[in-house]
Amino acid sequence: MPALVVVGAQWGDEGKGKIVHFLGKDADWVVRYQGGNNAGHTVVFGGQKFALHLTPSGILAKGCKSVIGNGVVVDPNAFVKEVKMLESRGIKVRGRLFISLAAHVILPYHIYVDTLREEGGRGIGTTKRGIGPCYEDKVARIGIRIADFLDPEVFRKLVRRNLKVRAAELAKVKPLKTIEKEVFKDYDRQRRFLAPFAADCSLFLDAANKKKKRLLLESAQGSMLDLDHGTYPFVTSSNPVAGGACAGAGIGPTAITAVMGVTKAYTTRVGLGPFPTEVEGHVGHYIREVGKEYGTTTGRARRIGWLDVPQLKAAIRMNGMTALTMTKLDTLTGVHPIKVCVGYKLGKKRLADFPVSRREQLDVEPVYESYPGFSGDLSKAKKFSDLPRGAREYVLAVEKLLGVPVSIVSVGQSREQTIVRDATRLWS
Ligand code: GDP
Ligand code: IMO
Ligand code: MG
Repeated sequence: MPALVVVGAQWGDEGKGKIVHFLGKDADWVVRYQGGNNAGHTVVFGGQKFALHLTPSGILAKGCKSVIGNGVVVDPNAFVKEVKMLESRGIKVRGRLFISLAAHVILPYHIYVDTLREEGGRGIGTTKRGIGPCYEDKVARIGIRIADFLDPEVFRKLVRRNLKVRAAELAKVKPLKTIEKEVFKDYDRQRRFLAPFAADCSLFLDAANKKKKRLLLESAQGSMLDLDHGTYPFVTSSNPVAGGACAGAGIGPTAITAVMGVTKAYTTRVGLGPFPTEVEGHVGHYIREVGKEYGTTTGRARRIGWLDVPQLKAAIRMNGMTALTMTKLDTLTGVHPIKVCVGYKLGKKRLADFPVSRREQLDVEPVYESYPGFSGDLSKAKKFSDLPRGAREYVLAVEKLLGVPVSIVSVGQSREQTIVRDATRLWS
């Protein structure tokens, strides 16, 4: 205790990595609880930039330990690559990073199936990292966990069985024997590399909790990409929402003391699916270029939209958010006016809430309020009062519309460009 969940309030890429790293200075443990290397979390500090896909951003915060929880799907290749990258840049990883024995393993055939579907006309714009097919195996109870991966006899047996289960789909890619060879090609090396990191992490976290240590739980993706609560079927295959933190880390809900939602000052989305406040044309282009809105994982151009209050209210509700961080306020400088969606029109009806039905999610038309916007360089602001009046008014208006305190405002990539408005609301 305390335990703080940091969760994306939109469609991912809200700046969770930056905020987890910022708050990580006060944490003893940082835990990633779902997703896999579909995530791309950027952390900038001391003039260095890191793009993390699998490792919790806490690994870059001094003095805290990190866990890849049981709810995460782990590609051993991606894991080896990321640990080597961190070590080559002087970050101490061994003895500070642990992977749950119960996390599931992504193997080459998951990536083939994901890619095949994306390229075969049935795609939703996934990252093609094998995430969906790996979670499918988990739910079908044929998944391979880290504990199985570390046991060569069990692993070989399970891989051979699973290749047979997926034979019809994989036959469209290459012969099964070739795929099997690919799975085993680097297996021994990967197993030996991974073994020292594997642990029953739920035990550590329970012990830490009993010692009143601070836990920070880091989501990947965002609330609108949540398998249950997002814009289904254009979602990821796990539960980023705060409730997912308990199942994906192996702690109970009574341990959670606060939930911090991270939202941009506008909205972005990568991949296909409904996006009611999407703006194309000059304004969308301007925000994409100024905000460098290109994916950390796939390099795809992110779709741009205005802030969407019904969408954020849904995220606040489904996560039980106690506070918000607003990132990228600096990106909106020079945008006049700034629009905020405060409700929707659906035919003749007015909607105050984000709809559940896929047809309505596509058909709603946003109703906007306009704010005059602001000019000037925000990136050097240290206190809220340093911001231009128009920027302060925008934050206060959003806070009022949402009914949740915007406790942190971020005005640049680096950790120094972070304004804490209310430190008392962060951890409890
Ligand atoms: P995540 O997936 O939620 O961790 O977010 P990403 O790292 O994928 O994308 C957010 C991008 O915005 C990264 O390049 C961050 O370094 C950057 N960023 C975060 N906060 C700010 C901010 O306040 N201003 C600016 N200009 N960039 C920011
Ligand atoms: P972070 O953690 C933004 C999107 C994909 C696609 C959908 C399903 O950096 O915020 P998947 O590969 O998960 O099966 O793809 O989810 N997506 C993300 N979008 N940020 C992410 O992660 C994402 N991870 C997945 O673009 O629309
Ligand atoms: Mg990202």
